[in-house]
Amino acid sequence: MKIVETIQEVRNQVKEWRKQGISVGLVPTMGYLHEGHKSLIDRAVAENDKVVVSVFVNPMQFGPKEDLASYPRDLERDAAICGEAGTALVFHPQPEEMYHKGFSSFVDMDTLTGGLCGKTRPIHFRGVCTVVSKLFHIVMPDKAYFGQKDAQQLAVIRHMVDDLDFGIEIVGCPIIREEDGLAKSSRNTYLNKEEREAALVLNQSLTEGKALMDAGETDAGKIRQAIVEKLESEPLAKIDYVEVVDWNTLEPVENAEGPVLVAIAAYIGKTRLIDNFIWE
Ligand code: PAF
Repeated sequence: MKIVETIQEVRNQVKEWRKQGISVGLVPTMGYLHEGHKSLIDRAVAENDKVVVSVFVNPMQFGPKEDLASYPRDLERDAAICGEAGTALVFHPQPEEMYHKGFSSFVDMDTLTGGLCGKTRPIHFRGVCTVVSKLFHIVMPDKAYFGQKDAQQLAVIRHMVDDLDFGIEIVGCPIIREEDGLAKSSRNTYLNKEEREAALVLNQSLTEGKALMDAGETDAGKIRQAIVEKLESEPLAKIDYVEVVDWNTLEPVENAEGPVLVAIAAYIGKTRLIDNFIWE
């Protein structure tokens, strides 16, 4: 496995592979890899001849008061995980490599990005769309892999690829959870022991919402309310949002009948966590 820092090195390698008719999968990450990322890499390795994993903490998708500086980083550990999983190339650029002096072109989206996480993180998806577009142009993969834990991101990327004709297949992969149900996230490392316990309320509240839906409830207001009540029962949790939205448009629904995304974000102490399920 090679680890490279420059766009040119990635391009040269991919060009070689292309000459040999080799298929390429891309797994974009911000590093500090966990089982969730590993599941994306495993799937990519199974479905492509060669896999590129990008490890880049993208400054453009963090708001001024967010955790860019403290976001966990450990390239050595990430490289070991990638190597073991069968990755061919790790792309680990510095911010200056991705955003040269005078950089001023962005990829923005008018729909899908204003609600859910976009409400409290107004510049987030512009940063995500811009960096993912750049990675797509650099690697030119056949397929790219994203986790369903960031369900809004997955929907936004699919929409962007469709709007801008990237010709890349976007593969959404299921949420990977700890044994006790907490969705795997690099940000879980911020939680102390008490907060880690309290964080279970996210999955528990979604499980209650899902149980209502399994029992035939379609009133989005009632489903939402059940989730809110469970989250509010945990003193360390502060709700950012609880939403029941159409899985294609991400617009709130009154009746949860089609494919809907039930998504939540909550602060546990100072750590903002997200979780969701998709109801087909
Ligand atoms: O999901 C992430 O880790 C990031 O948002 C992504 C897709 C790698 C873009 O920086």
